[in-house]
Amino acid sequence: MKISTSFIRAAFIGGMALLAACGPSNGGDKQATESAPAANAENSSAASSADVDPAAKSESKGVGKFTSVEIGAIDNAMADKGKGVFTAKCSACHQITDQKVVGPGLKGVTKRRTPEWIMNQITNPVEMEQKDPVGKALLAKYLTQMSFQNVSDDETRQILEYLRKNDQ
Ligand code: HEC
Repeated sequence: MKISTSFIRAAFIGGMALLAACGPSNGGDKQATESAPAANAENSSAASSADVDPAAKSESKGVGKFTSVEIGAIDNAMADKGKGVFTAKCSACHQITDQKVVGPGLKGVTKRRTPEWIMNQITNPVEMEQKDPVGKALLAKYLTQMSFQNVSDDETRQILEYLRKNDQ
């Protein structure tokens, strides 16, 4: 036992010496030193795409029935209706400022999300939080699952208009 331990130790020390001998030539090689940080950067960006920042802007359209939503100039009448629905069904958990309640403050939400994503979030929140990268990140951050508030498609569109007006 004793012999084999010292043999391993000798082999280990020998290996270290070999590494040390290789070290300076690698260190002196410009390409080798540059390729190491590049590989690291790649790894960390892969990690951050798996872990999306829920506050960052996203181009995702989300998961749900809204695949194409047309928006134009703000329709004030529609936004007013949206305000009524929002106050009744959303304001327990959301402010339209930056202030978090149960869910995120919705100021700026129409700048960081697509119209489709917002309407899918309102009508299909559970699947969104399971499948959409931003939805997953939101759930991980706020630790509460938003639930469907029984809003019709028309009401959902009105809420979008209200949020757009709020972000003007
Ligand atoms: C029971 C509380 C609750 C209610 C009611 C609720 N939400 Fe949410 N909402 C959340 C939570 C929590 C999140 C973040 C976690 C998640 O997505 O599940 C969220 C996320 C959101 C987001 C994404 C915000 C962002 O920064 O991307 C939008 C948009 C949204 N909700 C709109 C609404 C609207 C509109 C209503 C009303 C129809 C509503 N919510 C009702 C809790 C709620």
